[in-house]
Amino acid sequence: MTVTLVWAQTPTGIIGRDGTLPWHVPEDMAHFRDLTRGHPVIMGRGTWDSLPPRFRPLPDRDNIVLTRNPSFEAAGALVAHGVEEALRLIENRDAFVVGGGEVYALFLPLAHRVERTMVSLDVGGDTRAPALDPRAWKRADPDQTWLTSTAGGTRYRFESYTRR
Ligand SMILES: NC(=O)c1ccc[n+]([C@@H]2O[C@H](COP(=O)([O-])OP(=O)(O)OC[C@H]3O[C@@H](n4cnc5c(N)ncnc54)[C@H](OP(=O)(O)O)[C@@H]3O)[C@@H](O)[C@H]2O)c1
Repeated sequence: MTVTLVWAQTPTGIIGRDGTLPWHVPEDMAHFRDLTRGHPVIMGRGTWDSLPPRFRPLPDRDNIVLTRNPSFEAAGALVAHGVEEALRLIENRDAFVVGGGEVYALFLPLAHRVERTMVSLDVGGDTRAPALDPRAWKRADPDQTWLTSTAGGTRYRFESYTRR
């Protein structure tokens, strides 16, 4: 069983604004689908709420939503009330933590891998990714180059990190 965190951020660590993503990079959404399809995904209640109802649960993946609210229900998803319960629900499968800021910080200490997309934009926001301490994490793919999105020309780069 491995736990992989997957997110997209700006160089200053912004991952969200007003409950949504402050950019549109369809190539990164395709990358996200390719990484996570067929695997359980764990997300915070904030991220679940941020998904348009027609896109949730994320298809072809067991969706696990983390909340402290004992009466919360998410149609089509499993609900967990803490990290231990979420880990029990993934049942030794390789799982992906898919947001948001609170839940990335919660799972980073037990993550094996981080798949981070760097989006080269200078935008403000209210939600941040945790920093990756270079003493704990190393780039597994230092040769990845910058790419240009066909939608709007945004520059982005896929970065894989593993623990040292
Ligand atoms: N750029 C990216 O890759 C990316 C990916 C995903 C999301 N996002 C963005 O991130 C933002 C949402 O992130 P967020 O930080 O506001 O929310 P979040 O991390 O998605 O969810 C936070 C919620 O998770 C629950 N939670 C947190 N810790 C818990 C614990 N220990 N036990 C049980 N439940 C726990 C709580 O739900 P309750 O309040 O219900 O108790 C908490 O309010 C949105 O803007 C979204 O668009 C960006």
